[in-house]
Amino acid sequence: MKIKSLLASLALVTTSLITSAAFASGGPEVKFVGPTASRTDNESLQRGARLFVNYCVNCHSAQYMRYNRLTDLQLTEDQIKQNLMFTTDKIGDTMKAAINPKDAKEWFGAAPPDLSVMSRAYSAAAISGSTDDPAETLAAYLRGFYQDDSRETGWNNLVSPNIGMPHALHELSGTNKLVETVFMADGKELKDDHAAEAKAKAAFIAAQTMSSFEHHSEKKDGKTINRYIVKTLVNATPGSMTPSQYDSAVADLVNFMSYVAEPNKSKRIQIGIVMMFLLAFLLATAVWLKKEYWQDVH
Ligand code: HEC
Repeated sequence: MKIKSLLASLALVTTSLITSAAFASGGPEVKFVGPTASRTDNESLQRGARLFVNYCVNCHSAQYMRYNRLTDLQLTEDQIKQNLMFTTDKIGDTMKAAINPKDAKEWFGAAPPDLSVMSRAYSAAAISGSTDDPAETLAAYLRGFYQDDSRETGWNNLVSPNIGMPHALHELSGTNKLVETVFMADGKELKDDHAAEAKAKAAFIAAQTMSSFEHHSEKKDGKTINRYIVKTLVNATPGSMTPSQYDSAVADLVNFMSYVAEPNKSKRIQIGIVMMFLLAFLLATAVWLKKEYWQDVH
């Protein structure tokens, strides 16, 4: 009986390993470039808070974050009330979405997830390699929107394909179009798959904007056909910000979301340092006491 269940769980582990390996080789690679903002920069956090309450809380909640907590960011309660509270007038309330989750699910096909810990938990299923950092992936997601008329929302996303969320920040970023280039062996300039892949990789690395690299393989008449695809986003219409201003705004927004996910982080670091000093002091006292006691014995 025992051996049987052991074998069963072994089989389960093996299959899950195999599926995850297969998955990793199939996903696109997305390039992550762009600025990041510092957790101790209160002005960046304030700008991020403003973006968050103006552009995200319409649809999303952050149920672990209370408005009065924002005094952490050197804001007064009056400033918070006047500039940052749109969905409630009680300063002790948590950040609740303006729309009803049920309506949202009907409109977008999926309920907007709570954003409280998104910056620590975000992972885009489609991505393999490049980064494990949830905050970085989140920033790439917010820069990854492009126009797609085949989608009901009119939007698609390079980092999270076919997501139900419309591009909430398009007024700032402007709109992007997707440009897809396919590289295949043609027996001439691209002699074989190897040459096609190398050329595609070079184009991916050289791309100056958000881009992804994908490998598709299909069997046709007993032959394997490999396609190497580079997708890049190019600006179609400008927004109220330049691309680099938009990237900084996203960095501020993600910085704020990291604060929301872990508001005590800065305090914890301070407490840690104080504790280290305290322990060092106790150690020194213990050593001194030991010396004092043993002095008389010898
Ligand atoms: C108009 C409503 C709406 C607004 C505004 C909005 N979102 Fe969303 N968001 C959604 C919906 C709906 C989903 C779930 C889509 C799905 O699962 O297909 C979603 C999903 C997400 C996800 C998960 C994406 C993934 O890959 O699973 C993140 C992260 C996110 N939103 C962040 C934000 C941020 C940050 C803002 C503010 C800049 C924002 N959203 C503004 C509707 C919205």
